[in-house]
Amino acid sequence: MVREEARTTGTVNNLPTKFFGQKAIYYPSLTSTMDIARKESQHGATEGTIIMAGEQSMGRGRKGRAWLSPKGNIAFSIILHPKIEFLPFLVIISALAVARGIEKVTNLTTQIKWPNDILIGQKKAGGILIENELKKNKVLYSIVGIGINANVNPADKNYNTFTATCIRDELGVSMTRTSIIKYILTEMEAMYLGLPDHTDIVNEWRDRLITLGRKVSVDYSGHTLEGVAESVTGEGALVLRHEDGNSTVIAAGDVVPVE
Ligand code: BTN
Repeated sequence: MVREEARTTGTVNNLPTKFFGQKAIYYPSLTSTMDIARKESQHGATEGTIIMAGEQSMGRGRKGRAWLSPKGNIAFSIILHPKIEFLPFLVIISALAVARGIEKVTNLTTQIKWPNDILIGQKKAGGILIENELKKNKVLYSIVGIGINANVNPADKNYNTFTATCIRDELGVSMTRTSIIKYILTEMEAMYLGLPDHTDIVNEWRDRLITLGRKVSVDYSGHTLEGVAESVTGEGALVLRHEDGNSTVIAAGDVVPVE
């Protein structure tokens, strides 16, 4: 049962950030941290406020997919007020922060599947969903939702159709979630405050992408395109080279290797 009223407001202990996570609202159980973050944003939540969940009953992923978010995993959303020109970089800094956070705390190696799926050993261990509210040329708020399969592999319960894993399965022991969350918030805030300087960030993210140079199919605006994932632009869009030599620049989509 979802008891959204049972919330605790505070801060994440010993978090060395200026504002990311300095206000944290925790719900043992809720529908989706995205929905609560949206409500909090509409009621004037300060930038950096995070909404964390013990479990979500209606977690969502990109492209309207369900995101299964049982107890033991990591689910939180960060409220941001970025300049509009920073929007393309939210995908990049959040994916990098999650990849670095998992690696730092667990010593496991992660990969990123364009644009922001977090993989361990080619299996999905985390995902990021970004929802923006714009008015004319201004961002009213952005919500960055981060889900990590920490201690439960959703695939164990036939929850998700893609090949998934969880950190516990990869490590062989359960893990505490707070250290990863703290590291992600710290890394992400540092990159966010460094914008518009983004060259190093885009370079590191590009170097971690597993699909570059491979033949892929991309689900894009309701149809499927095939080609070689040749490169990414300075703002993170994928350059897909087709057999006829033409290319398509894709800002958002789903990539699947075909060979
Ligand atoms: C994806 O890979 O499709 C994105 C998954 C994003 C899941 C997170 S969990 C926290 C936040 N709340 C949600 O309902 N979704 C995001």
